[in-house]
Amino acid sequence: MLAVDRNPRAVGIARFNARLNALDNVECREGDLFAPVEDCRFDLVVSNPPFVISPEANYIYRDSGRQGDEICRAIVREVPALLREGGYCQILCNWAHLAGQEWPARLAGWFAGSGCDAWVMRSETLDAPGYAALWIRHTERKEGPGLDDQFQRWLAYYQQQGIEAVSSGVICMRRRSGGRGNWFRADDAPPQMRGPAGESIVQGFQIRDLLETLPDPQSLLRRKFRVSPHVRLQQSLQPADSAWLLAQQQLQLTAGLPYAGELDPYMADLLVHCDGRSTLEELVREMAASMGQDLPRLTVHCAEILRRLIEQGFLLPVDEESHS
Ligand SMILES: C[S@@+](CC[C@H](N)C(=O)[O-])C[C@H]1O[C@@H](n2cnc3c(N)ncnc32)[C@H](O)[C@@H]1O
Repeated sequence: MLAVDRNPRAVGIARFNARLNALDNVECREGDLFAPVEDCRFDLVVSNPPFVISPEANYIYRDSGRQGDEICRAIVREVPALLREGGYCQILCNWAHLAGQEWPARLAGWFAGSGCDAWVMRSETLDAPGYAALWIRHTERKEGPGLDDQFQRWLAYYQQQGIEAVSSGVICMRRRSGGRGNWFRADDAPPQMRGPAGESIVQGFQIRDLLETLPDPQSLLRRKFRVSPHVRLQQSLQPADSAWLLAQQQLQLTAGLPYAGELDPYMADLLVHCDGRSTLEELVREMAASMGQDLPRLTVHCAEILRRLIEQGFLLPVDEESHS
């Protein structure tokens, strides 16, 4: 394992920590971005760069000294050359929302021609004043005129750069050459992380590979899925006419990427019947019959919800060879 940092103190502390924890497979190198490892190839690169977007260059942990979100774009552009085929890169990132541009389209441009599939998970978006206040508060504790001057300087910088808001999140990339072109996806991250999610990320890449190969949205319904063992359904009941009435159903993943959301009782019933033996199409047909609903209309409605449940990991694809 190779660890790189531009700050000699950070490199020294990382070496000390490795020895303290009796790790003999960590080598620490000092230098700028990938310069100290340019001849190496990796299965995994992780980066927590100084991503804060500001006019300042005071703190090496926070300020890259580059314009806007250029530090994250530079990592995205440079890392593919260091990844082995199938290798992953994960970057904690802040990116700018520029006036007149949709952020997913702008970010997609970062990956064009990279030879990598890219999955961006957005955690939060703050408008420019909210973002400036958050990060100024990280370092400046005292009230006073200096604080307001600093705030105005940050806002003037955003205005000059055309930055209206800033999002934070994680970028996941996987090197994949040959065959079909690379894909780009932008999603919202789960509201809160609960623990390691590496397996869910790899699974998420596999699911997105599958979705990319489908000739049309309907063909997803011709496949078989099984409900994830980590799915839980929480029901809230409210009193009504001396009985308990279902008020809300909350679906939750308890491991990996812990997505959550409301689900109506019919969809919850369909979900629990996904045991890998029937296609989604067959299950929707049974649901239409039991509800006396128009099948084509219900199919369109269900296809959208099922796709989201699949993307978020509530439903897992089955290997159809072994279940036929
Ligand atoms: C947000 S801190 C992350 C610290 C630590 N690696 C972690 O993940 O908790 C950013 C780190 O990037 C280092 N850094 C800043 N600019 C860099 C550059 N151009 N090349 C390499 N490291 C850099 C800083 O010294 C700092 O240690």
